[in-house]
Amino acid sequence: MTSTFTIAIDGPAGAGKGTLARRLADHYRLNLLDTGLTYRAVAHKLLELGLPLDNVSAAETAARQVNLSDLDRTVLSAHAVGEAASKVAVIPTVRRILVEKQRAFAKAPPGAVLDGRDIGTVVCPDADIKLYVTASAAVRAKRRLAEIESMGGSADFATILADIERRDERDMGRASSPLKPAADAHLLDTSEMAIETAFLAAMAIVDDVLAKR
Ligand code: DC
Repeated sequence: MTSTFTIAIDGPAGAGKGTLARRLADHYRLNLLDTGLTYRAVAHKLLELGLPLDNVSAAETAARQVNLSDLDRTVLSAHAVGEAASKVAVIPTVRRILVEKQRAFAKAPPGAVLDGRDIGTVVCPDADIKLYVTASAAVRAKRRLAEIESMGGSADFATILADIERRDERDMGRASSPLKPAADAHLLDTSEMAIETAFLAAMAIVDDVLAKR
């Protein structure tokens, strides 16, 4: 038996998995890794160098240089970086390099919450808990619009929705580790759920597993 505890959270962009991962990591005092940031770091490097996103050898080099303890969320959170990340994420060798780092992170005591697209299926197939967090594309677009407006920006709902649908298609349709729920994942549809309700539902699942350990 391993002494670490792993919670794997997967789902499409904007479903609320990042917030949920943070709440769970705080509550259970586990390490936290947003694996999307690792793909974003690779994409950001290529953009910075002015290289095309399908330059495999440059993307591999950038992936090897990713340092998990030095991921700058502020720099990497830009919308364009997310789009670019979804493109470099189709490169199988980039995935292999990043997955290795993510697995090492998950193994460090006392364990971790990791969120992404392939955590329960590929990165941590033996995770103690697997959650698949989803919400309808329209609800995710509405949340994204509200977030942009709360920061004083403005955007068009139809454009955001089209963006989200395109990103879903790329993340779910790629050949290498596509986004899909693991067979043993608990599904959490947050379309009609406040984040607090989703957190309570996730906590009930985790507490149940912990009680049986
Ligand atoms: O969750 P995010 O928006 O930060 O992720 C950015 C992109 O990175 C996402 O569109 C697909 C890719 N990604 C991935 O392929 N596998 C992961 N485990 C996490 C992210």
